[in-house]
Amino acid sequence: MAAVLEKIKVTPLPAACGAEITGVDLTQELSAPTVAAIRQAWHDHIVLVFRGQEITEEQQLRFASYFGSLGRRKEAMFREELQSRNQGTKQVNPNILLVSNIKEKGEPIGAFGEGEMWFHIDSGYAEKPYNYTFLYALELPSTGGNTQFSNMYKAYDALPADLKIRLAGKKALHIHEYERSAKVELRDDLSKSAHFFHPVFSTHAETGRKSLFVDRLMTARIEGLPKEENESLLEQLYEIGERPEFIYEHKWQLGDFVMWDNRCAIHARTWFPPEERRLLRRCAIEGAPIHE
Ligand code: OGA
Ligand code: MN
Repeated sequence: MAAVLEKIKVTPLPAACGAEITGVDLTQELSAPTVAAIRQAWHDHIVLVFRGQEITEEQQLRFASYFGSLGRRKEAMFREELQSRNQGTKQVNPNILLVSNIKEKGEPIGAFGEGEMWFHIDSGYAEKPYNYTFLYALELPSTGGNTQFSNMYKAYDALPADLKIRLAGKKALHIHEYERSAKVELRDDLSKSAHFFHPVFSTHAETGRKSLFVDRLMTARIEGLPKEENESLLEQLYEIGERPEFIYEHKWQLGDFVMWDNRCAIHARTWFPPEERRLLRRCAIEGAPIHE
């Protein structure tokens, strides 16, 4: 039973996605109606923001568990390529990924280091990309390091009709990319890279809405198209997916807890001063195969 009476309030943000949730204390167990209200808000707004939270790792994982099975860090599944993520001292729980540029004794304590990150889908290179990701801000730089979210339902709706027809039923190759702002290299031998083919358009299992499911960082090519057409088509899809009018840009404050739906949003990070510390605690919910 919930220890406190929750008075949840959902306030849409003035952007193409995102809502702020107030009246919920994430340190407490939540009642079923509150969880249902959060889930509904998530379906409606894709990105949910809770401000001023002070939560432990356990409380974060308990809250995330209301929405499915906790995702394990992927390096356990993908041999050497992702092993470097496992370096460091604090990242002991397999359900937690520290997103940080901090090093201790020269060793990164987490993943994704410094600098800009291009738009991507979390674990889009896996057969079952995470449904949801949750980030909690613990240390922040004085400027930058904002996380941008783009509404991929709107991107799908904005596609020219001929593109929708041309790409219906097509799959795209997603490859794990270790760089954070560089195009994936198309290797002949994919056996050494985590990769998967997903439909270019995905239908959300719960909302039934269609979204565009490609991203600049990890989508390498669309199946069955000639090379030149591939590049120009992908560029066109990225351009639509990253239109400013579809984006909510989150400027982090300490204590912010942000959760998003990977099936209908791509996200990116803006530059921040590399000499300043940034630390966020991430967990995720396992997903399912993507269907058009
Ligand atoms: C992530 C991610 C962006 C950021 O944790 O999956 O993309 O702002 N983080 O650090
Ligand atoms: Mn990410």
